[in-house]
Amino acid sequence: MPAVIQTEKLTKSYGSHRGIIDVDLEVQGGEVFGFLGPNGAGKTTTIRTALDLIRPTSGRALVFGIESSADPVSIHKRIGYIPGEFTLYDRLTGGQTLAYFANLRGGVDKAYQQLLIDRFEIDPSRRFKELSKGNKQKIGLVIALQHRPELLILDEPTSGLDPLVQQSFYALVREAKADGRTVFLSSHILSEVERTCDRVAIIREGRLVKVDSVEGLRDLAHHQVELRFAGEVPTAEFEALPGVSEVSATDHVLRMRVSGPITPVVRAASRYELLDFVSREPSLEETFLAQYGHGEGHVHAGGAGEEVRE
Ligand SMILES: Nc1ncnc2c1ncn2[C@@H]1O[C@H](COP(=O)(O)OP(=O)(O)O)[C@@H](O)[C@H]1O
Ligand SMILES: [Mg+2]
Repeated sequence: MPAVIQTEKLTKSYGSHRGIIDVDLEVQGGEVFGFLGPNGAGKTTTIRTALDLIRPTSGRALVFGIESSADPVSIHKRIGYIPGEFTLYDRLTGGQTLAYFANLRGGVDKAYQQLLIDRFEIDPSRRFKELSKGNKQKIGLVIALQHRPELLILDEPTSGLDPLVQQSFYALVREAKADGRTVFLSSHILSEVERTCDRVAIIREGRLVKVDSVEGLRDLAHHQVELRFAGEVPTAEFEALPGVSEVSATDHVLRMRVSGPITPVVRAASRYELLDFVSREPSLEETFLAQYGHGEGHVHAGGAGEEVRE
């Protein structure tokens, strides 16, 4: 079986500006594949080039084994796609918009369409232009999903969605996978990819950094923890905990980086009177800076989990 998506040294320059450079991807049928990278890394460029919405500068892409520049129409018939940014017809309501796209597909299963509308809690009577970003995004997701395509290409699908709607979306991704469909999902949020995907490709500054199973992300994942104590700050005790680094204290606040399980920090903190406990996921930019430093250090994808530094 050919890969569902395959790119070979896919390269796109915007004039003298870097878009993407030598991107080699292989997405297999039935997997949920994450495409992780900070803003500006080249996720949208890769997707648009692979779908022949823009032409590559060099290299090529095949979807379902079909070269996308040769026959984009037959590819687009079989996919559901949500672009990173899109506008639709302002004056149509959400319901009219969904009906319009369903007709373009030659009709869809009405019951399934309604199920999606319910699960995303869409009000189909509102005009598109009146919708918030998150509600527009929900319409976009139903357009991508409603004809049950065999391949979903989702460019930052959760951006603008509130956390509960994100959960509905993750459930739909799991269902698509259970149905044997393939999902390609881009994101700049590490925990989201970790939660939803089987394998991940990481892109940074236009080049693939790594292709791995999601377990490989565990080394990258960490938390930024901030504890506000009522009294004295017990710095030394926290410095000694497993996974804790970069500890700093100012006034009554202790900051640290925690990699791996957070339990030791929570246990230690529970012995003190705390005014606040904040744990946040750092941005991917921060994570990459900590892991790879600035600029160079590009790595090509070899086999699974392989890293080859240049
Ligand atoms: N139409 C364009 N013209 C010029 N540069 C572009 C254009 N689209 C994207 N770029 C540049 O290509 C790089 C990758 O962008 P993009 O693929 O949108 O990244 P991502 O989707 O990961 O945020 C960025 O440096 C961006 O500025
Ligand atoms: Mg993008």
